[in-house]
Amino acid sequence: MKAAAETLVLFGATGDLAQRMLLPSLCALDADGLLHEQLRIVCTARSEMDDAAFRNLAREAIGKFLPEPRRGDVEAFLGRLTYQALDATTPEGYHALADKVRQDGNGDVAIFLSTAPSLFEATIKGLADCGLNGNGARIGLEKPLGHDLASSRDINDAVAAAFPEERVFRIDHYLGKETVQNLIALRFGNIMFEPLWNAQHIEHVQITVGETVGLESRAEFYDQTGALRDMVQNHMLQLLALVAMELPVTFDAGAVRDEKVKVLRALRPVAAGESVTGQYRGGASSGKIVPGYDEELGKDSDTETFVAIKAHVDNWRWKGVPFYLRTGKRMPERVTEIVIQFRPVPHSIFAGAKLKANRLVIGIQPEEDVTLTLMAKVPGLGQGMALREIPLDISMPDALSGLERRMAYERLLLDLIHGDQTLFVRRDEVEAQWAWIDRIRSRWHEEGLTPKTYSAGNWGPSAAIALAERDGVSWHE
Ligand code: BG6
Repeated sequence: MKAAAETLVLFGATGDLAQRMLLPSLCALDADGLLHEQLRIVCTARSEMDDAAFRNLAREAIGKFLPEPRRGDVEAFLGRLTYQALDATTPEGYHALADKVRQDGNGDVAIFLSTAPSLFEATIKGLADCGLNGNGARIGLEKPLGHDLASSRDINDAVAAAFPEERVFRIDHYLGKETVQNLIALRFGNIMFEPLWNAQHIEHVQITVGETVGLESRAEFYDQTGALRDMVQNHMLQLLALVAMELPVTFDAGAVRDEKVKVLRALRPVAAGESVTGQYRGGASSGKIVPGYDEELGKDSDTETFVAIKAHVDNWRWKGVPFYLRTGKRMPERVTEIVIQFRPVPHSIFAGAKLKANRLVIGIQPEEDVTLTLMAKVPGLGQGMALREIPLDISMPDALSGLERRMAYERLLLDLIHGDQTLFVRRDEVEAQWAWIDRIRSRWHEEGLTPKTYSAGNWGPSAAIALAERDGVSWHE
């Protein structure tokens, strides 16, 4: 482990992510004694204000977004914060920022860019010009890292000109979720899964990320992005990589990311008919009537709010095993889950009994639970053996009751401060993700594919159901 950073510099500190997640996460870490005593947090944004005004803003955000029992001594935490107004596009502010950072000593600096990606290049240049990229300085970058492979390479090149890769921390907040890390624990901390974790025993995999929300406050961004680039390019491909990767030699950044990138590079280009897009119309969602996407947006649009894909990982382990992915806004429920569907037993000795193949369902959110379905004997004295599918349920919060479940950004900020890259995305990963996504988009473009409609509160258009049903598969519900 590297030396902990002495200063954390937060760009975009008045923005939505900082207010909802970053400042509350830092306060929670502080409350639990996880921030070392010397750590100072220099916050920057465009607005002019003094330290006191910024602390008021931070106090309000913590009051709103961090539950009371987790807050600890908020005033002591606020005492770590200082504020520096800075226009990211002009060089002057950076020198004032550097002076402020150096007032606190010459220790390592961790920088977190929670700003629009259009500002990344200017910000990185500004940081390099004032020397804030020196020594062990590390930089965290919030998504979206580009909108296609070319733009992502531009950002990566700009970052690489000032920070070596071992000091670049690309954030995919799904990797900060305890439940996602638990997937790694489940696969590699138990002997029973690995021998079965391959094409010989697994028939298919499903990954669902359903959201009930619609456009929220990001209409313009979302309309330029769509579900494929907003959710599949990053979060869903990271989940897929964690499910499909080979056993890393150790749980460290190099080993884990080497294995993930092999999976991402083995993704087969999606063929015609293997993807479905949708856009929601008005309907009932979470018990209320909601408008359609174009009404919310205020104009017609061809942006997809739902996507389903049949993906394939072309390697020995996964030969012939489809990975069905689906994600969308205005789904019937907020749920992220991974379903591992095992193959049926090769021969049944139970005449007349209908055997169902085993299934492992890994719930990521909102509930964290792992369920394994098994066939069991139905009690009774009837003739022969009557069997029924029963769930073997491991509810994580019950099993680990009393232990605090942390926000994803708590883990990620702590790792950034300490310089541990294991849960961050490496350049080759992000570029392999974009390469696969770009091909899907070009195919859609060539085929003139436009989203099919679905009513809010449904699991996407009927074509998404057909995508799986053609293979005799039903989506897990
Ligand atoms: C973000 C997407 O990356 O992830 C959002 O831009 C989405 O559109 C969000 O709502 C989902 O995150 P979570 O943690 O709520 O599943």
